[in-house]
Amino acid sequence: MEKILVLDFGGQYNQLIARRVRDQHIYAEIRPYSKITIEEMKEIGYKGIIFTGGPNSVYDEASPHYDPAILDAGIPILGICYGDQLMAYMAGGEVSGAADTSEYGRATLFTTESVLFQDVPAESICWMSHTDYVSKVPAGFQNIAHTDQCPCAAMSDESRNLYGVQFHPEVTHTAYGAQILKNFLYGVCGCTGDWTMEDFAEKAIALYREKLAGKKVLLALSGGVDSSVAAVLLGKAIGPALTCVFVDHGLLRKDEGDIVEQTFRHQFGMNLIRVNAKERFLAKLAGVTEPEQKRKIIGEEFIRVFEEEGKKIGHVDVLAQGTIYPDVIESGKGDSAVIKSHHNVGGLPDVISFDEIVEPLRDLFKDEVRHVGEVLGIPHELVWRQPFPGPGLAVRIIGDITEEKLETLREADAIFREEVAKDGLENAPDQYFAVLTDTRSVGVMGDARTYGYVVALRAVTTDDFMTAEWTRLPYEVLERAGRRITNEVSGVSRIVYDISSKPPATVEWE
Ligand code: XMP
Repeated sequence: MEKILVLDFGGQYNQLIARRVRDQHIYAEIRPYSKITIEEMKEIGYKGIIFTGGPNSVYDEASPHYDPAILDAGIPILGICYGDQLMAYMAGGEVSGAADTSEYGRATLFTTESVLFQDVPAESICWMSHTDYVSKVPAGFQNIAHTDQCPCAAMSDESRNLYGVQFHPEVTHTAYGAQILKNFLYGVCGCTGDWTMEDFAEKAIALYREKLAGKKVLLALSGGVDSSVAAVLLGKAIGPALTCVFVDHGLLRKDEGDIVEQTFRHQFGMNLIRVNAKERFLAKLAGVTEPEQKRKIIGEEFIRVFEEEGKKIGHVDVLAQGTIYPDVIESGKGDSAVIKSHHNVGGLPDVISFDEIVEPLRDLFKDEVRHVGEVLGIPHELVWRQPFPGPGLAVRIIGDITEEKLETLREADAIFREEVAKDGLENAPDQYFAVLTDTRSVGVMGDARTYGYVVALRAVTTDDFMTAEWTRLPYEVLERAGRRITNEVSGVSRIVYDISSKPPATVEWE
């Protein structure tokens, strides 16, 4: 398989760079600059290297540097932003910076003839974010682009296949960014593009069929995208040797537990244990109103349920987990095995004895996981499922949780989701749901006074869920959802739409 190394110097777009390379059907992996040697790079056989941006100036003592021998290692390199400056610095050029040369945002890029700029017009929009710039290209390099502010926006040493760009080709604001990356990957590195999800799925199934032959494998299925895709993939590889445990805590959305059961047990014929634990969760949660306490109770109860299941299952050979690439990178551990608490559902490995962990999705980004899910034939609504918090509806009911409130919220939430989907906006907000508040308000129905709950509708648009904008849903969608909820769900008399962004609010109400 062709591989590109994204050599991480601490920039904020490192994952995006790897994503963009993979969009071109070439596998890319991110490694911190301090964790890989030139010998290792050669051994792995990277087709090319991308130096990422970084927060520093190359002249800062603390700024990340790399062995200049890499420039003569015979592997093509593309330096981006700090990576471009670092390449210039390592090759004997000069880097300068002053307030009046800094550029943030849109700039017009003027390019000259280069393999890097094939099919890129001489004048196009690029996206800049820098103060320092290459003020003198190193010997052997040519200046191949500029902007009004930046005299050297790109440079190259074609004899050594070294390229540097001051702008960010990985962001969509750079009009020809994808073309420029493609030129580097195909034109300079000579890649052919052998990374596809169809291929990945086929190879992974064959690999695990061989690797797990004769072993008993256990997977904790949450119904979320990652564990679902991991389950189906391994199910196709080893069939009944895989057991999936699905704990239904009774805090799921309308019909969700049944959909999970239907999909995995009936559609895919998998070995699924559904633990219906609603009563015990509700008993533990009775009268509890404090959000963190709710979370803690649910987390602990989950472990108890698994402990009991674990005793029944006994020893397993392999524990399978739905860990994905961002989890691996964020753990900072690179290649070593990582156990993410949110994937093993809060401590599962401690209570079930096993010899080995497998993580079939650990090289994939989220949208690649979804794509594999589609290739495997998992239903669309499961593959494109919006995120759902582990504690479920418990953090969307303000105040204490009762069976009746859960039922009310499930109905209201289902109507809202239906109306959003009807509008063809199914994938527009990144997350959308209803919240049952603990406020009651006066209403009128027929000639009678009512005193029902206030339901809040929430829809957010976000890239990473760290910050979020409230989504401007069309009034008609809100109107339909609101009218249907008050008409069809008893005990609800008023609907409000949440127009808070994060920060200062959070996505969930609790
Ligand atoms: P907040 O409310 O923190 O939510 O802005 C950000 C994202 O995280 C999800 N979320 C959770 N997920 N356990 C989870 O597994 C939790 O306790 C939890 N709380 C929030 C939330 O749905 C949103 O996608």
